[in-house]
Amino acid sequence: MKPGTLKSRRGGIEEEASGSGGGGEYSFPLAPARREYCWSSGLLKAVVALVILMGGVIIGLAASSANYYSSTSTSTSVWGSAALSSSSMPAEAAAAAAAASVAASNNDDGDDDNNGAAATGRGSSHHQKKKLKMSPRAQGLLLDFRGFVDPGPPWGHSMSDPELFWRASMVPRAEEYPFQRVPKVAFLFLTRGPLPFAPLWERFFRGHEGLFSVYVHALPGYAGRYRRSSPFHGRQIPSREVSWGSITLVDAEKRLLANALLDWSNQRFVLVSESCVPVFNFRTVYEYLVNSAHSYVESYNIDVPQCAGRYNPAMAPEVMEEQWRKGSEWFELSRELAVDVVADQRYYALFRRHCTPSCYPDEHYIPTYLHLRHGARNANRTVTWVDWAATTAGFVAAIRNNGTRCLYNGKPTTVCYLFARKFAPSALGTLLNLTTTILDF
Ligand SMILES: *[C@@H]1O[C@H](CO)[C@@H](O)[C@H](O)[C@H]1NC(C)=O
Ligand SMILES: *[C@@H]1O[C@H](CO)[C@@H](O)[C@H](O)[C@H]1NC(C)=O
Ligand SMILES: *[C@@H]1O[C@H](CO)[C@@H](O)[C@H](O)[C@H]1NC(C)=O
Repeated sequence: MKPGTLKSRRGGIEEEASGSGGGGEYSFPLAPARREYCWSSGLLKAVVALVILMGGVIIGLAASSANYYSSTSTSTSVWGSAALSSSSMPAEAAAAAAAASVAASNNDDGDDDNNGAAATGRGSSHHQKKKLKMSPRAQGLLLDFRGFVDPGPPWGHSMSDPELFWRASMVPRAEEYPFQRVPKVAFLFLTRGPLPFAPLWERFFRGHEGLFSVYVHALPGYAGRYRRSSPFHGRQIPSREVSWGSITLVDAEKRLLANALLDWSNQRFVLVSESCVPVFNFRTVYEYLVNSAHSYVESYNIDVPQCAGRYNPAMAPEVMEEQWRKGSEWFELSRELAVDVVADQRYYALFRRHCTPSCYPDEHYIPTYLHLRHGARNANRTVTWVDWAATTAGFVAAIRNNGTRCLYNGKPTTVCYLFARKFAPSALGTLLNLTTTILDF
């Protein structure tokens, strides 16, 4: 699954030298050809048959090992003490337990008006008491390949963070996907509550269904209200308290990544905030990210107290002083790197312990981790412009092209930033007016 080897990726880049670009430069937008999200029925049947076969094997094993489960069902069971504690539990249910984590999050035709509020606040302590009660629908999902590939709206699953991160860190070994996979860009909104620029984003996404997915991490108890047709409707993930500047911010980022990883079609992962807006149209953003050989995580080390000065020697030898990095929290990651960030426990534990104020894990953990493990796959720059100034049409135009160049897949381009923050909510009207002119969406 390295860039360029995706079996079902869209057929190449249509290199139209639109506008002033040309020569050896990338110019955007590059028109994506829309493709149907279709399922190969022959393959699907074969897979369903295989799954049924596997199900039979599991049921057989479960039945023959019922005594084992009943005698070892202590609280150390990964399913929680209640999950497999009853020897009278039907064998089918035991088999279904294997799919519980998938099934629990798959309820896409339910009434998702609550937008995830009902699912917030559930943690690992509750998880210990969790009863494994499979609805007929959930049991059916054991055999539902499509539900496995895309578990649907993210609200309401009851996985704890360790369960979620473990589940999300799975990677297929087979080189080809047994379904038509159109890569999607996952937009991860890290917010305290309302999304003042939702109307702008809705316009940005309009007409591109199937090429993106949205995940929102708000504070527990906050329930955003969106029209049913909105891309934000039902996209709030089960959340936890976040205190800015602490490791809980990294936890929230990992939670967003992990929820998005459950959808196997998500290929690129962008973290955005409530003050963040797109400065190009969807086609440009999509092609830029999906065809990029690099991820966009700012990463640098300069000898000032706010950067090198935050390094804690207690992190050696895992993280040496010269390996320490800093960068903007607003990352863009490929699927491969996102999986590794979610799976990492070693460096995460180190940062949790040794990066406390005035060290801020959200500015150091991912840049340092990528430098250590995946340096060559990072562009070391961010695609999210940050400015605290007021916004004008000229300002947005300058972010789109301020005359400087950056490298994209090794070639110079003037398109360096795809998103911008910190915009004040009052800028919404101005920005909406810009969609028909500069922004072009
Ligand atoms: C980013 O930095 C790493 C070192 O961490 C380096 O190996 C890599 O080549 C840099 N990426 C680019 C695109 O220059
Ligand atoms: C353009 O943006 C870059 C990156 O932030 C900045 O370093 C540079 O000074 C800007 N150039 C102009 C002409 O504003
Ligand atoms: C947006 O455009 C409309 C129509 O041209 C204009 O009346 C309105 O004042 C503009 N709003 C802002 C915030 O610029």
